[in-house]
Amino acid sequence: ATAPIVTIATIGQHEGQSVTLRGWLYNLRASGKLLFPIFRDGTGTIQGIVPKAAVPEHVFETLKNLQLESSLTVTGKVRADSRAPSGYELDVEDIHVISAVDPANPFPIQLKEAGVDFLMEHRHLWLRTPRQSAILRVRATIMRAAAEYFDTNSFIRTDPPILTPNACEGTSELFEMDYFDDDKAYLTQSGQLYIEATALALGKVYSFGPTFRAEKSKTRRHLTEFWMIEPEVAFLELDGLLELAENFITHIVTRVLEHHRADLKVIGRDVTKLEAILAPDSDATTSTAPTENKAVILSEAQSAQSKDPEAASPTHTTPTFSATKSNRFPRLSYDEAHAMLDEAYKAGKIENPHKYGDDFGSPDETYISSQFDKPVMIHRYPAAFKAFYMQPDPLDPTKALCVDVLAPEGYGEIIGGSQRIDSYDLLKRRIEDHNLPLAAFQWYLDLRRYGSVPHAGFGMGIERVVAWLCGLDHVRETIPFARTLNRIYP
Ligand code: 4AD
Ligand code: MG
Repeated sequence: ATAPIVTIATIGQHEGQSVTLRGWLYNLRASGKLLFPIFRDGTGTIQGIVPKAAVPEHVFETLKNLQLESSLTVTGKVRADSRAPSGYELDVEDIHVISAVDPANPFPIQLKEAGVDFLMEHRHLWLRTPRQSAILRVRATIMRAAAEYFDTNSFIRTDPPILTPNACEGTSELFEMDYFDDDKAYLTQSGQLYIEATALALGKVYSFGPTFRAEKSKTRRHLTEFWMIEPEVAFLELDGLLELAENFITHIVTRVLEHHRADLKVIGRDVTKLEAILAPDSDATTSTAPTENKAVILSEAQSAQSKDPEAASPTHTTPTFSATKSNRFPRLSYDEAHAMLDEAYKAGKIENPHKYGDDFGSPDETYISSQFDKPVMIHRYPAAFKAFYMQPDPLDPTKALCVDVLAPEGYGEIIGGSQRIDSYDLLKRRIEDHNLPLAAFQWYLDLRRYGSVPHAGFGMGIERVVAWLCGLDHVRETIPFARTLNRIYP
């Protein structure tokens, strides 16, 4: 009987049986008359055991001389082994080489550490290593969960164009190109302006696609091409937008913990930090009952934890700042966040003072996020340094009805959003004040000419979320082929 072809991910269902795997030789260790190959097949890795005496001579010799990343099929018996990372090992019976790597030209990525530039230059091969594969699996779940959240909450996906005639997020980071004879086109920076149009047509919409920014600085958080998911909702105001962002993030974290504990282990992520996102606050001052929505997404870990009052770690949240409902992400106004930084500076906890009226720098964001276990929602920034389309706060028109969500542990801004200006006159004035070409925005002004309503939305960068949830210090590992200031190869 021929052994069934299976994958490593599901190999536990075949304990005690002979199975065939199709994949690559990931690693090989020899110890006298024993070989310890590690195979990978895209779904995981498994160690094989090959005693010289137990297999035909040619199997032992072929494997012993095989170069890493040669492709092969391997047949063997599945044996449970509690010490193995996957819980199983394979007693190899036979192998068949599909394509042998030339020993004169071995696989360039070795198990020992290589420099980042070398790895990025060989990104097409680096992707094969378990950690990078694990990251891409988590990324796929983040993207699926993000779309799923909107799909299951009655949002209609409407895809905006990639080639656009106008800027959305400022003109300094535009990729410009010739568009036939006399026209210029720009790669989109955000689908927002277009989904404002579809929101006024359909009510609740979202877009999900690549966006582009000619970021001229090298940072750990910026790519020139990244994926953004953006909801836009008619009749939604700032408070509702914060609620939406919170529920959306909670859903994504829940799905990642549900499906990727093994991957997160490979990546080396401390999952207790992610469990804390879903945990009720130990010092919540009011309601302790989770909202209906929250009840649905309680993870097993969380319900186990909530039974044990000792298990909940005390947060270092200063009670004067927001978060009054159990389980809620803290909400801070720009003014409150500034006051927090001011206090920290006076207490010698941060090096540089934050100047009121300025945007937060990345050390500021890191300090603020370090005060909480959960993402922090900072709202009502000064309008002066925010985008032209943001609705002013009626209580203080120098502030915008906007929100930035900062990930915990210093991973920075993951979401930016706002309520949009709904007045025709004000929007027109803002376009002029920002020196944007009025002609290119006539269609956008039409949205305020014909049945304008309050509406709001946000954008979440997928790569920032992958970096945060996987605990990566650079966004270059969060996307299969990162585009940055100085890299467009491979
Ligand atoms: O804050 P941003 O610029 O907001 C917008 O583009 C709005 N038009 C979105 C909206 O309201 N519909 O970008 C949104 C998010 C950021 O919070 C960040 O997560 C991500 O997009 N982002 C980047 N990610 C990687 N590399 C870059 N260069 C990024 N720029 C923004
Ligand atoms: Mg932003």
